[in-house]
Amino acid sequence: MEHVLRCYGEIYDRFIVRAKGCEVFDNAGQGYLDLESGVWSAALGHCHPIINRVLHEQIEQIMHLGYRYKNSVVETAAQAVLKITGHPQGKCIFLCSGSEAVEFSVQATRRITQRPLLLGLRGSYLGAFGSAGKPDPKEWHFVDWSACSTCSLCCCEQCPVISAIPFSDIGGFIFEPGNSSGLVMLPPNKLVETLVERVKKHGGLVVANEVTTGLGRTGMWFGYQHYGLKPDIVALGKHLGNGYPVSAVALSQDTGTRIEKSGVRYAQSHQNDALGCAVATSVIEVLSKESLVERASVMGQYFLQRLQALQDKYPSITAVRGRGLMLAVELKHSDVETIHRRLFEAGVIAGLNPTAKVIRFYPPLIICREEIDRLFEILPAVIQ
Ligand SMILES: Cc1ncc(COP(=O)(O)O)c(C=O)c1O
Repeated sequence: MEHVLRCYGEIYDRFIVRAKGCEVFDNAGQGYLDLESGVWSAALGHCHPIINRVLHEQIEQIMHLGYRYKNSVVETAAQAVLKITGHPQGKCIFLCSGSEAVEFSVQATRRITQRPLLLGLRGSYLGAFGSAGKPDPKEWHFVDWSACSTCSLCCCEQCPVISAIPFSDIGGFIFEPGNSSGLVMLPPNKLVETLVERVKKHGGLVVANEVTTGLGRTGMWFGYQHYGLKPDIVALGKHLGNGYPVSAVALSQDTGTRIEKSGVRYAQSHQNDALGCAVATSVIEVLSKESLVERASVMGQYFLQRLQALQDKYPSITAVRGRGLMLAVELKHSDVETIHRRLFEAGVIAGLNPTAKVIRFYPPLIICREEIDRLFEILPAVIQ
């Protein structure tokens, strides 16, 4: 890999050549349990037979088409996304990455509301590029909610965090329900309910950034369901394509109408490509038919319990957090990179945030107990 630009940390010295289910294999035949689903994307498992078949079949029909032409595969995918997001009369656009879906949602919110500010929770990840990727502090108000979980003010008028928000200037609340750049930080319900209520009361929109938390990752179809709210806009990505780069933005009927009436123009070459849309429809079907959302909840509880039991034994584990199959372990160790590398050498792919000293697990939703147990045969020795 001498000619591949390194722009995100160390690249391990093994060539991965194929993948199946929860495992990837190197060119010597060694298997690695992929507890990160690639980059949180292969949630149905790598090389899912139905998704692969759909890809092959759609390639033979049509992959890509210009903006002005109808294709029923795209309409079917839009209906499937709108059905699960609870906006059957809404509108949907298909894009290529989570970053793009969030960026589009941000642009749409600004365009509809014409307000100077957007609201977010500090620590949220919005994307790799665009106005969302590098938020301009003049255009965003980020809530520092670090003290909210233990605060007794219950988001009342006296709360300095809430009273500092200029709600009448806020066009929308761009809410990421509990991923926070892979740290699995779960915003308290009372805070989220209060922000949503105030933003709506002042005519702002609620946008759920479900790029990572959506489609079952948290044990419910969407992360926002843990908060009992109904967003106006939902951004999806990651495992909407199970590894194929497709993302989507679902807009409520009202929001969709307002954005169309605003005369919006948004054009990129692969928007509403039939190939990505065929995959997206099949991913949603497989999630339903194989009851993977429910499975994520059950397996997530099992995974979390095993991590908590480990924390009871090892004081070097300072925190364990989880929601569905989105789990993080905080460690005292200064060198979590070594732990990450050792796990890999022992046949387990985990996630890593060296700054926060976090090892993380976002496995495919098809994971079974035996596969989770495999991690726990290795993890104690590696942590010690
Ligand atoms: C919450 C959230 N939003 C947006 C993105 C950006 O998605 P992508 O990397 O597919 O562009 C990510 C990626 O990790 C994410 O976790």
